[in-house]
Amino acid sequence: MDKRETVWVIDFGGQYNQLIARRVREAKVYCEVVPWFRCEERAGDETPAGMIFTGGPASVYEEGAPTLPRALFERGIPILGICYGAQLMVHTLGGKVVSPDYKEYGRVKLSRGSGDGPIFKDIPTETVCWMSHTDYAETVPSGFRVTSVTENCPAASFENAEMKLYGVQFHPEVHHTPFGQKLLENFLYGICGCAGDWTMANFAKVKIEEIQRLAGGKRVLCALSGGVDSSVAAVLTHRAVGDNLTCIFVDHGLLRKDEGDNVMRVYGEQFHMNIKRVDAADRFLGKLAGVDDPEQKRKIIGGEFIRVFEEEARKLFDDGGGAEYLLQGTIYPDVVESGSGESAVIKSHHNVGGLPADMKLSLLEPLRLLFKDEVRRVGEELGIAPELVWRQPFPGPGLAIRCLGEVTPEKLHIIRESDAILREEIDAYNESLFVKTGRRNYGAEPGGDAAERAVWQYFTVLPNIRSVGVMGDFRTYDHAIGIRAVTSVDGMTSDWARLPYDILEKISNRIVNEVDGVNRIMYDITSKPPGTIEWE
Ligand code: XMP
Repeated sequence: MDKRETVWVIDFGGQYNQLIARRVREAKVYCEVVPWFRCEERAGDETPAGMIFTGGPASVYEEGAPTLPRALFERGIPILGICYGAQLMVHTLGGKVVSPDYKEYGRVKLSRGSGDGPIFKDIPTETVCWMSHTDYAETVPSGFRVTSVTENCPAASFENAEMKLYGVQFHPEVHHTPFGQKLLENFLYGICGCAGDWTMANFAKVKIEEIQRLAGGKRVLCALSGGVDSSVAAVLTHRAVGDNLTCIFVDHGLLRKDEGDNVMRVYGEQFHMNIKRVDAADRFLGKLAGVDDPEQKRKIIGGEFIRVFEEEARKLFDDGGGAEYLLQGTIYPDVVESGSGESAVIKSHHNVGGLPADMKLSLLEPLRLLFKDEVRRVGEELGIAPELVWRQPFPGPGLAIRCLGEVTPEKLHIIRESDAILREEIDAYNESLFVKTGRRNYGAEPGGDAAERAVWQYFTVLPNIRSVGVMGDFRTYDHAIGIRAVTSVDGMTSDWARLPYDILEKISNRIVNEVDGVNRIMYDITSKPPGTIEWE
């Protein structure tokens, strides 16, 4: 990758920081999220193509508020400041930031006036933008000119084209600013001079060569879960090191119907990867017997997973083969969220840790710079089937989460069978809709071609409630099944999918008729927040 094409997203702790980075990547420009307190140090040895200063919760007047030296603004590196980033630019260079009585929040009309510079190229003069701020710039520093205003904001955007400094009070990264992506692209291409050649085909090619150089001829170990990240990481690495990659697939017996066999079929038969399947269902179910607390269940499964993986890895070492690398499907949000940025420390990630010290495995994390949608595109480049690349999120502890109370083989059987029916019917529904209208249902990603991209996630849960019913001449006392089907973009927020009644009716009839032990079906109509997507 050409370092001159790298843009830094300087993180001031705002909620949209990763979103800004994704938008830059969507413009096919490589970027890295750099915490503000690392910016000066890195700028000592490196010169990025440009920098985007993000928003943040602070006011420039607060004690300890993030700040950067004036000299950084004077180096000729193009800078786009957004919200707090723009206020910091104004404050540092001699303008005035104030806290007005009227706070703007939401969509507001934007008037450009004299805003005709390259950053507004091909953007209408009257448009709308998304505002979310308390402070704003009242007076811009000398040498700057105001390029747009709103009814309540006297400097919605401003620039000093000579110094290549640009500020916007609104948020171009959110979809509610309709020209936002265009403005970012104008900055990246027109002002930073980026070519926009960061593509996933390129990424895969360069990464395979890099892994070959690093790990060619050495043995690599991978815990394959069948999820998107570990699958793409494994196929990519397999291209580089071939049979020196050994994947261990721990089947904990908590997977969906036929899932374990599918993983073996695709990665073993289609990609000819060296996979060892460990059928550990009895072991996991044994440990889970009598446990009904959800946190306890998660802990038991996580701990047992590591032990099984270690035992299998140990066997490889005992065979004399050993391994030098441990391949992990870590992706960029994991890296940013686990503490390299200010907005960070949301959760700590535990992948496969705790391996015995004498194994001395170095980590190989080929996807650590990619966002999820980029990982999926690499998967497509590598020829992985769409149903795997676009696989729905599935919790590591598997169906144990969707089985409330104690996990038993009987309850797992009911969840698996009802879930398979639900998936079959929603997939068929999406397919029929596509045939009729050319468009599948809902569509977090319009124009997508896989059903799972439409209704974002759908599954059944067993809430551990039994109730009286009647079937034929008999009274029953059986389980209720909950259906969860949501629309979402990233799982952070979601809404319940407005499935047509006749589809719900068909699913309900089929589950009650075909799955023994079920006599009642419920549809969960809770959004997130306040609910969560999973029941647990
Ligand atoms: P919630 O239930 O928190 O879920 O609204 C948000 C998304 O995360 C998935 N999820 C998990 N994914 N390991 C995972 O890899 C987990 O332990 C886990 N728990 C929830 C969930 O399916 C949804 O898509």
